[in-house]
Amino acid sequence: MAQHSAQQEVIEVDPAVLANRHLNDYAASGTASLSSSVNSYILENGRRYSTYFGMDRNPLPVDELEQDRLDMHHETMLQLLDHKLYLAPIENPKTIIDIGTGTGIWAIDMADTFPDSEVIGVDLSPIQPEWVPPNCKFEVDDAEEEWPYPDNYFDFVHLRNITQGITDWPKLMAEVYRCTKPGGWVELAELGAIAKCDDGTMDDDNPMKIYFEHLDKALKVMGRPAGNPETMAARLQEAGFVNLGWDEKKQPIGPWPKDPRLKNIGAMVMLNTESGGTPGFHSYGMAVFTRVLGLHTDYADQLCAGAFNAAKNKNNHIYNMFYVCYGRKPEENEEPKEAKGKEKEEPTEPLQADKDDERDGAVDGEAKEEEQ
Ligand SMILES: C[S@@+](CC[C@H](N)C(=O)[O-])C[C@H]1O[C@@H](n2cnc3c(N)ncnc32)[C@H](O)[C@@H]1O
Repeated sequence: MAQHSAQQEVIEVDPAVLANRHLNDYAASGTASLSSSVNSYILENGRRYSTYFGMDRNPLPVDELEQDRLDMHHETMLQLLDHKLYLAPIENPKTIIDIGTGTGIWAIDMADTFPDSEVIGVDLSPIQPEWVPPNCKFEVDDAEEEWPYPDNYFDFVHLRNITQGITDWPKLMAEVYRCTKPGGWVELAELGAIAKCDDGTMDDDNPMKIYFEHLDKALKVMGRPAGNPETMAARLQEAGFVNLGWDEKKQPIGPWPKDPRLKNIGAMVMLNTESGGTPGFHSYGMAVFTRVLGLHTDYADQLCAGAFNAAKNKNNHIYNMFYVCYGRKPEENEEPKEAKGKEKEEPTEPLQADKDDERDGAVDGEAKEEEQ
């Protein structure tokens, strides 16, 4: 029988772990140095922004107010998609990744939905909860750098509302493609930054319209334009994905729709702009208005407050769009074929305002398509 070999090398204990021996968790010791450096923040206009990967990476705050907003917005988007977490026709995925996971709420829901899967959420900031399903984990990383995952690994790659943080989509999509399994799916979901209205209740000087015009412009100046279905489809197609499908939903801003489901969604959107002041508008607007457009803080603040007041005004029947676009990585020996292109439904019906609003004379009855 083989003898036990001579002395195994003793594993040295990190002095940081030895410190503060009266405490027994890692977080309380100096081993938290990684998490403390990824927790580098600045305070700006009363909000906390992450700086670990650079000031310019994510123009949205990461404070508790923002985390609450993200969680509530997740619920709104679920309702917009009829309680579906995704639209791609995935079946029994075993490996899932959520890029720009934020608070990780989508990743956690996916891990609960597919308990046999492994779900990874990646974000620039460690703002995810500690207690998560055993098949879910989070990593702090910049998704625009080379990914640490093997080729052909994921059954499903999900990217939602991250466009304001991405400068090089072709580079990112090349990594998405490399790491997606042949036959696996990727789904992009983004909000549009254009205020829309179907019934003429949004004049050109409506503060919400003005807010969104500034936001749209700032994102374009940054080279990170807001969601747009053509661009999203092109990103997938150019990376090599096929069988593209897409859908778009109107996200009412305020509880003005007649339809009870949309009324509820609009109420949630309004609540999300309301809790703690103007979080939704403030989150998206302040950094880009001041840093990118060079606006004075007071003016940027006024733009956000104007949009907030417009959201609360029941005579403004405004919405923005939520776009979802997905595609499949071809099988290894699959005959190259034309991508199917967009499976777009006919333009959606104009959202009908609640009768109470009409009685107030708020609706002029004329449907008006504001833009595309
Ligand atoms: C608006 S939040 C959306 C969060 C989540 N996807 C959701 O829909 O609830 C945008 C998130 O994307 C993250 N993000 C932006 N750029 C990123 C990048 N290059 N790499 C990783 N995460 C990024 C931000 O840190 C932020 O948490």
